Amino acid sequence: MDKTVAKRKIEALRQEIEAHNRHYYVENSPLISDYEFDLLLKELIQLEELYPEFKSADSPTAKVGSDLEDNAPFAQYAHLHPMLSLANTYSIEELRDFDSRVRKGTDKAFTYNCELKFDGTGINLLYRGGILVRALTRGDGSVGDDVTRNIKTIKSVPVQLKESSGYPAEFEIRGEVYMPFASFDKLNIQRQLDEEPLFANPRNAAAGSLKMLSSKAVATRGLDCVLYHLIAPGYENSLHSKSLEDAAGWGLPVSEHSRRCKDIEEVISYIQEWDQKRHGLPFPTDGVVVKVDQYAIQAELGFTAKTPKWAVAYKFKPEEALTTIESIDYQVGRTGAVTPVANLSPVQLSGTTVKRATLHNADQMEILDIRVGDSVYVEKGGEIIPKITRVELSRRNPASVPETFPKVCPACGTPLVRDPEQSKFFCPNSDFCPPQTEGRFLHFASRKAMDINIGEVAVHQLCEREYVKELQDLYSLDDLQLLSLDKWKGKSVENFRASLEKSKTVPFHRVLYALGIRNIGETTAKTLASRFKNIDAIAAATREELLEVEDIGGIIVDSITGWFAEPRHLKTVEELRKAGLQFSLEEKAPVSDTLKGMTIMITGNYSIPRETMKYYIEAHSGKVGSSVTASTTYLLAGSKAGASKLEKARKLGIPIISEEEFYRIAAPGNEEDTKETPQSDGQMSLF
Ligand code: IVH
Repeated sequence: MDKTVAKRKIEALRQEIEAHNRHYYVENSPLISDYEFDLLLKELIQLEELYPEFKSADSPTAKVGSDLEDNAPFAQYAHLHPMLSLANTYSIEELRDFDSRVRKGTDKAFTYNCELKFDGTGINLLYRGGILVRALTRGDGSVGDDVTRNIKTIKSVPVQLKESSGYPAEFEIRGEVYMPFASFDKLNIQRQLDEEPLFANPRNAAAGSLKMLSSKAVATRGLDCVLYHLIAPGYENSLHSKSLEDAAGWGLPVSEHSRRCKDIEEVISYIQEWDQKRHGLPFPTDGVVVKVDQYAIQAELGFTAKTPKWAVAYKFKPEEALTTIESIDYQVGRTGAVTPVANLSPVQLSGTTVKRATLHNADQMEILDIRVGDSVYVEKGGEIIPKITRVELSRRNPASVPETFPKVCPACGTPLVRDPEQSKFFCPNSDFCPPQTEGRFLHFASRKAMDINIGEVAVHQLCEREYVKELQDLYSLDDLQLLSLDKWKGKSVENFRASLEKSKTVPFHRVLYALGIRNIGETTAKTLASRFKNIDAIAAATREELLEVEDIGGIIVDSITGWFAEPRHLKTVEELRKAGLQFSLEEKAPVSDTLKGMTIMITGNYSIPRETMKYYIEAHSGKVGSSVTASTTYLLAGSKAGASKLEKARKLGIPIISEEEFYRIAAPGNEEDTKETPQSDGQMSLF
């Protein structure tokens, strides 16, 4: 290869890898599989070996991928020792090469320790005097984000080590925070119900959850942790496997599936065994980590800039299948995002027939160089929607032409614009682009929103005939217009009108959700409604006020402020208000006055959301306190109640009651009913 070509190729690969690192570590939504990423990295490593004059300390081959965000909301601290990554391999041959390198690097006898490679996100815990003082993400390897509060919500991580168990006075121990499959399924089912974007796989869910601002929300995510790398004085002449046994004795979570192996043959047996057995594990793994067990030999072998020379990760290949691209559709969604979707010749993969695969966006299409007629590999490596990982170029028809992403909206012809943050193309014509307009009406009418009796065909015809342009137009349709719709008779008009009438009683949080503000799912709408009480307060809220709300971050705030900045949207709110829709929380007459005159302070988690608990107290005529004072009637302590509040209540002699005791006070003789949780449509069944 010509030197200038090599230089350009190296630069291009570096940029591409950096972009993927960002998608993986910061955004937690990778565009390509780990396998493809590793191939890119390998190509770069090879080029840098061939052309050492272009090596650079800044290359992704020389530093670990960083999970640090710009304007990070977490405090950042330096790791006591750099937090490195691992060299990867996918073949037994390369594993044997690793073994040869180790044997060349030392003339002493050594053994290996084999461990599962947990597929989560790295964490570094610092214990001092047996107390967990800090938990940092890997960050850029030198500095990590302080997620101590979030880590403390993970039950298996002790805040205090077992007394007199012989732990060192101060030590760092590294490991992985991961999401067991059961928690992952539960989380995604809930997100589906809330119409929130699903997590592609447990790794992304774990990394995303660990970086949430609210540790209460983290606590609901069912995360777990395993520790696999102790750095402590006194082990210089000991074994790594022994250090993990000791750590287990101090109360720390370590894996029970590790094995000491006397040579590389035993390592290979372990790998073969776990390539099968891992499918029965309740948590995600993506390989086996092989480590030289003797600390002294580890020290002898040392590190590269990015990885230890005494360890390697053997990664399992995800399941894949080969099929053909029959055509590519460009779908325009409700928000205007244009998504390329490949229609495939049906193929069997992990027990299901795959016919379609998302191509995500233009970048991804370009990276893969996808063409209609290509033979492609599809993979389901933990992702929900199968994806195309690479093209089998040896089978490409030489007459095929590269696929070009449309420049204009396939639905309305408006030039597309690019959202750099999401690498997506959007149709900016949200007012008049038919699929966007129709999507908005369908969302508004959907069961969880306004529950209006109207289907896709009718919405399509109403929009096409321009009988409706804005949401409020649904409330002023006349009978002639309605009877002109395909298959609509008197009865359909009657049903439609009855549902419109009923929509006027739909509670505020559902109306808010129905407006279709980007990123406002059902749960967020409920949170906003209970915090701000009415739409005018939400519209008037400052960025800071919005950011203060639990689980509301910058992206949601941008969506809200952007939506209310649009005069057309304000008009929609006004017109819908005139039509009789609920734009504020209904001031309900109290359900009872059992709590009249009482001030109840709440702390910890209950079987119902905290906001619902506040609502419940108020509905029974009680007041929710803001701090424990002499005039507090009860401290209602849920699980993980705040220690300082409990302490203060004890000092002041304020009765501390459990959730069950509370229900007996609030709704005496009604215990059966009160065990109910709120129904999914947000209507409280507690009262
Ligand atoms: S040892 C210097 N052991 O895999 C030692 N890492 O792809 C580095 N990982 O950054 C880590 N299971 O986040 C080690 N049993 C295990 C592991 C493990 C998962 C992760 C870890 C690391 C990444 C490298």
